[in-house]
Amino acid sequence: MTLSDHTLKEIRELPPKYPHIRSAVMPALDLVQEELGMLTQEAMTQVAQALQVDPGYVEGVATFYSLFHLEPVGKHHLYVCNNLSCQLRGAEELLTHIKESIGVSEYGQVSADGLFSVEPVECLGACEYAPMLRADHRFHYDLTPAKIDTLLKEWRGDREGKKARKEAHPRAGSH
Ligand code: FES
Repeated sequence: MTLSDHTLKEIRELPPKYPHIRSAVMPALDLVQEELGMLTQEAMTQVAQALQVDPGYVEGVATFYSLFHLEPVGKHHLYVCNNLSCQLRGAEELLTHIKESIGVSEYGQVSADGLFSVEPVECLGACEYAPMLRADHRFHYDLTPAKIDTLLKEWRGDREGKKARKEAHPRAGSH
């Protein structure tokens, strides 16, 4: 899978926004992942060419950060914090509930409908709202299994799920 001309143009426009060209690699990989859902070898080569940086450096960044995926993930990939504050407030239970709800037995596995995958991650810096998760560039706070059900409904395209979440979970926000 390779990148569209539009994404390549966006990547080429990144360097002037950063003090060092290498700082543009992470946002560029973010754009790649947004378009392709994962980082392919071809796309990483395209990034290196577009930014005129060493392909090895691009690959190093891609493999170092767990927010980048070298394998396919679901349309909505759920990063569930499993660090201390979240663990004390039920993160394990949430992870089990999510796996059961989306029908996967392992972290990183994509649900049969292609919509979901989940993985536990280290602290996402929102401990006061534990337990929490990040998905589609948004944080979701103070989670319970019932709130997870509402979110999954919403992501499955259920309008009632969206309405219910707004009422029950006004603190959900973007970061
Ligand atoms: S421990 Fe979960 S956000 Fe910090």
